[in-house]
Amino acid sequence: MKWSAEAPSNIALIKYMGKTDASSNVPSNASLSYTLGGLRTRVELESSAQDQWQELSEWPVKLSEKSKERFLKHFQFLKKTFEVDGSFTVRSGNNFPSDCGLASSASSFAALTLAVFEMAKDQSSNKAMIESLSLEDLSALSRQGSGSSCRSLFSPWALWKSEGAESIKFPYDLLLHDVLILEEEKKAVSSSEAHKRVTSSALFVGRVERAETRLKDLAAALNLKQWANAFEITWAEMWDMHALFETSNPSFGYMTGASVDALHAVKDFWQEQGDGPLVTMDAGPNVHLLFRPDQKAFRDELGKRLANYGRVLRTDSL
Ligand code: DP6
Repeated sequence: MKWSAEAPSNIALIKYMGKTDASSNVPSNASLSYTLGGLRTRVELESSAQDQWQELSEWPVKLSEKSKERFLKHFQFLKKTFEVDGSFTVRSGNNFPSDCGLASSASSFAALTLAVFEMAKDQSSNKAMIESLSLEDLSALSRQGSGSSCRSLFSPWALWKSEGAESIKFPYDLLLHDVLILEEEKKAVSSSEAHKRVTSSALFVGRVERAETRLKDLAAALNLKQWANAFEITWAEMWDMHALFETSNPSFGYMTGASVDALHAVKDFWQEQGDGPLVTMDAGPNVHLLFRPDQKAFRDELGKRLANYGRVLRTDSL
């Protein structure tokens, strides 16, 4: 028998950076994300002689030995939690190229959690417990595999507070997502390692309060449709996180010269037009842009300018 599930990636505008409990991914501060329906992971499960990971042939993905181990560890945690016996082949893949630096633990761990839940509906020895699980419960389990994945179960916006992740409504329920792909290499410092290192930065003092204040301000700006204000808050939050990276001990970073040039090009665009996209970066060199649906002409124009620095991927057309 086979079971499968898919889950999307997400991009945080208020970032999860720093944990109060590293073993179960409890965040230092609340975060807010937009769900990227175009960037997806699919997980398939099939009974087999032993637990093992394989690449999904139609959606190829490359996983390091360490990533495979981490994925299977979460799989085994879920089997135990869902009271499932037996061994399975876990196949996973993404609908986007594996060499573009977008590989997201958010979509993979969310898809794995949902796929094991599907399998447990048939295979668990405690079906009553499985049937009682809510989306919030599944999100909390997914969080234990990778923190940011707990937001991928909600769409289009997810708010993750210490009590757990939930869906949140804003007047912008459809945004257009582009990502400027700047480097096709593997990142040197994983985001899990980044969470540990940032606490050594002198700037980590006050970080939780800054993130919480920005979350309140951003929610108000989105609710009042103050797009320019939302841009400024998102921009400041991105620089705050990247400043933490660069001021950690030992310091590290993800911004390349091309990232900085591209950020300046977006800023220039805003200054010329008095309008533009929300912009942010995760723990990588790529620049993420979110446009309102009425900004299609801006999207084309800015896309042309950014193509000077890298490859612009429109994730809703994948
Ligand atoms: C920079 O969820 O990848 O993308 O919980 O250790 O798996 P683990 O970390 P992860 O951290 C993501 C950090 C971020 C910001 C964000 O998505 O909020």
